[in-house]
Amino acid sequence: MNETLTKLKDAALSKLNQVETLNDLETVRVEYLSKKGHISLMMGKLRDLPNEERPAFGQIVNQVKQEVEQALYEKKQILEYAALLESLQKEHIDVTLPGYQFYQGSTHPLTQVIEDIEDLFMGMGYTVEEGPELENDHYNFEMMNLDKDHPARDMQDTFFVDEQMLLRTHTSPVQARTMLKMKGEPLKIICPGKVYRRDDDDPTHSHQFTQIEGLVIDKNITFAHLKDALLTMVRHLFGPERNIRLRPSYFPFTEPSVEVDVSYVKKDGSIGYIEILGAGLVHPNVLKMGGYDPEVYKGFAFGVGVERIAILKYNIDDIRHFYTNDIRFLNQFKGVNKI
Ligand code: DAH
Repeated sequence: MNETLTKLKDAALSKLNQVETLNDLETVRVEYLSKKGHISLMMGKLRDLPNEERPAFGQIVNQVKQEVEQALYEKKQILEYAALLESLQKEHIDVTLPGYQFYQGSTHPLTQVIEDIEDLFMGMGYTVEEGPELENDHYNFEMMNLDKDHPARDMQDTFFVDEQMLLRTHTSPVQARTMLKMKGEPLKIICPGKVYRRDDDDPTHSHQFTQIEGLVIDKNITFAHLKDALLTMVRHLFGPERNIRLRPSYFPFTEPSVEVDVSYVKKDGSIGYIEILGAGLVHPNVLKMGGYDPEVYKGFAFGVGVERIAILKYNIDDIRHFYTNDIRFLNQFKGVNKI
């Protein structure tokens, strides 16, 4: 009997040895260790033995069973580990491989200037307001103190859709819209956006361009507040060594009105000035129409051309570059605000 058991054990162990997959291992387990497996059937043979031989036989069968179980367990560990290694190998990602190159766009240079100015003014407590490009004559002109027959309308000839509606000539109507919305409350806003004028396009003129309007209304606003806001903006945009020069001017919506020049160093080393924007203290009529008592409230306003800022900042020789979308031009403004 012992011999049979030894053979059985050797056969089981040698089969286990040759097994190469977890499936085959299961087949061997069933063959030897399941209820009807060879080793379990050996246990059944106990009944056929005389009483005195049973303990010794049982002990040997148990021993064989344990040995085969142990060998099976070890083989299983090895095969499972090998399977794990294989799947790791298959699903392995080489992180050192260069990735796909995506085309990296960037924001338009005009958007970069607008966002820069928005950031600056938002940091000083201003909010950003917007208005429609298709505007009512009422807001574009009348609320800005330009009656129907005002001669200053000539300077802002534009595209009319009908008698009443036009493509706005400036961002100033957003002043009127915001004043009415704020119902007499103090306000601090900037309003960026596109504007239109009937113009023949050339290197310095475009029938469509971009402005940023500024408006602050509060009690006790003086010209000094306006100068401070403008100098802060100019130095932020062009550098701390810059100065501004104010020249008396005329706008129907401000009184007094100024044109603002920014200083620059000429080729010969002397200081020159270039005009960059219009500004002034809000005209009492504009305050009144907007729902503010000019005896109590004062305001300052300014309107700056975004193209003009970008042209000076980046030395651009033709305003049309902003609209023709030549990728060689636009690529020069990458890296500032990547998207
Ligand atoms: N709206 C004027 C223009 O387009 C610019 C301007 C001048 C705006 C003075 C202002 C201002 O708010 O106070 O020519």
